[in-house]
Amino acid sequence: MSDHMIGRLNHVAIATHNLEQATALYRDTLGAKVSAPVSLPDHGVTVVFVELPNTKIELLEPLGADSTIRPFLERNAAGGIHHICYEVDDILSARDRLKAKGARVLGDGEPRIGAHGKPVLFLHPKDFCGTLVELEQV
Ligand code: CO
Repeated sequence: MSDHMIGRLNHVAIATHNLEQATALYRDTLGAKVSAPVSLPDHGVTVVFVELPNTKIELLEPLGADSTIRPFLERNAAGGIHHICYEVDDILSARDRLKAKGARVLGDGEPRIGAHGKPVLFLHPKDFCGTLVELEQV
C-alpha cells in the first residue's frame, strides 16, 4: 500500500460573479471545451465544467441567497480560485489520517456527495497554505 494519501489533481474551482462571461472567456478566448451550465442547488452553485487534457476547471457562480460562494466573492471582487480538489482512494481513511495530524475538516466531518456524484470533504484553508482543499474519493 502506498504511503501517498493524495493522488491526481481532480479540478481547480474558480468562483465568478458572471458565469456567462467566464464561460465565454474559457471557450472563446482560451479555446477550451466547456459544458453547459449545471445548477446544483444542494451545493449553492451553478457550475460549468471545463475539460482540459490533464484536469478540469470548474467555474462556479453562486446559486441561492446562502451560497457559500457569496462571501468569497465579497472578498474577491474579480472572482478567484475558490478551491482545489485532490483525488483520494479512501476518503474516510484520508480524513482520519488528516485529523490525527491536526488538520480541520469542515462541516460535520462526514463526506457528502459532491458535484461529480462522489464523496467529498473540505479541509480548512488555514491548515493548507491558505487554500481551501477538497478531497474526492474516486
Ligand atoms: Co470542487
